[in-house]
Amino acid sequence: MSKIEAPRGTKDILGDESWKWAYVSHVAQGVVSDFGYKEITLPIFEHTELFHRGVGQTTDVVEKEMYTFLDKGGRSITLRPELTASVMRSYLEHNMARGSQPQKFWCIGPMFRYERPQKGRYRQFVQLDIEAIGSRSPLLDVEIIDLSMEFYRRLGLKNLQVVLNSVGCPECRPLYRKALQDYLAPHMSELCESCQGRFDRNPLRILDCKNPACKAITENAPSILDNLCDDCKSHFATVMKALEKLGADIKLDKRLVRGLDYYTKTAFEILSGDLGSQNAVCGGGRYDHLAEAIGGAPTPGVGFASGLERVILTMESQGATFGKEPKNKAFIVTADDNALLEAASLANILRTNHIATDMDYMARSMKTQVKAAAGTSDFAVILGQDEIEKKFYTLKNMATGEQESLSLDALIEKLK
Ligand code: HAM
Repeated sequence: MSKIEAPRGTKDILGDESWKWAYVSHVAQGVVSDFGYKEITLPIFEHTELFHRGVGQTTDVVEKEMYTFLDKGGRSITLRPELTASVMRSYLEHNMARGSQPQKFWCIGPMFRYERPQKGRYRQFVQLDIEAIGSRSPLLDVEIIDLSMEFYRRLGLKNLQVVLNSVGCPECRPLYRKALQDYLAPHMSELCESCQGRFDRNPLRILDCKNPACKAITENAPSILDNLCDDCKSHFATVMKALEKLGADIKLDKRLVRGLDYYTKTAFEILSGDLGSQNAVCGGGRYDHLAEAIGGAPTPGVGFASGLERVILTMESQGATFGKEPKNKAFIVTADDNALLEAASLANILRTNHIATDMDYMARSMKTQVKAAAGTSDFAVILGQDEIEKKFYTLKNMATGEQESLSLDALIEKLK
């Protein structure tokens, strides 16, 4: 019979890697707590309509990448491809506008997109998602960018570039869209096939096409920053001023448009110089009209999400540390089968005293057991016939090789 493997674009995170995830998640939790964000846990699947209306019908995510199916009750369900629409859905559903504003949320969890897998791009991936809902203040946009940078600072990431743009609002964007179409129309036949399709549906996406011919054409396209309405202009100016005050190293990028339709005003990404083509470690921005798109009262919001696989890949390629790899305190080495029962009961005593303990279950030679202890534990507790008869334990420090004989109480005291 053929072997069953994990689906394409998914990844098993095994023991020797999972502590890296635990470390990144621990650092994230420290940062969000310093910024006053509260954890939110939401369903992995939602009604498909949430993403159609929230993320936008003409986005790649909705058009091509969603895992959508009918459940047994005939409802169209989608595995969440992103979290912002779900957080806003939850905010509206639970009338959170009644509490003090803004409400600030964080979540770490899996997202699902049917994309072509490659380094840094998976079909199931984990995002740290941050959302601040209920305020129009440009200072909240800056807080979000600052939070993302602080996360990477604490992880020791280098060689990152924050790129920033404003994508306008429903008042100024249609005028800009028209100006862009007027500029692109004479070049229509030179655009790639995808961009020709985007011309009517979503011309702004042509700006971030990677095709060299499209890039050359859009080089001199009108900039959205020159076409903002007064409200968007002053919002953007305050964001820039506040970022400058923080000393943030920011690059303006008039081509940055983001791939989800809900963005208004601020849009940003942080790019890693060590990732190749899938180089965005995070992306985010403001989404002041998402709430209305999904049937709620007007509610502003801003946030970002960071792909943790990409964060870990960047850390690995930069040789960043993931803290200390967690080790057991003790490994019980047994001389023979007679000692096994004794070892099981000692393991129980040590564990109930909060001492992380493992033992041998495979009746391996003492030499192999000591080797296993050296790889996984700070100490070996040796249990031979002599020890069992005379009721003492030989404790071996695996770093120094020092050995001492201890009573049970002294052993517990020492290991604690
Ligand atoms: P996004 O740009 O689609 O934005 O995704 C955010 C981040 O998730 C990306 O920068 C990348 O690090 C990671 N990511 C996306 N797709 C994949 C993939 N297939 N494999 C691995 N990593 C991936 C959003 O999702 C928005 N909801 C962000 C946001 C929050 N905007 C406002 N609030």
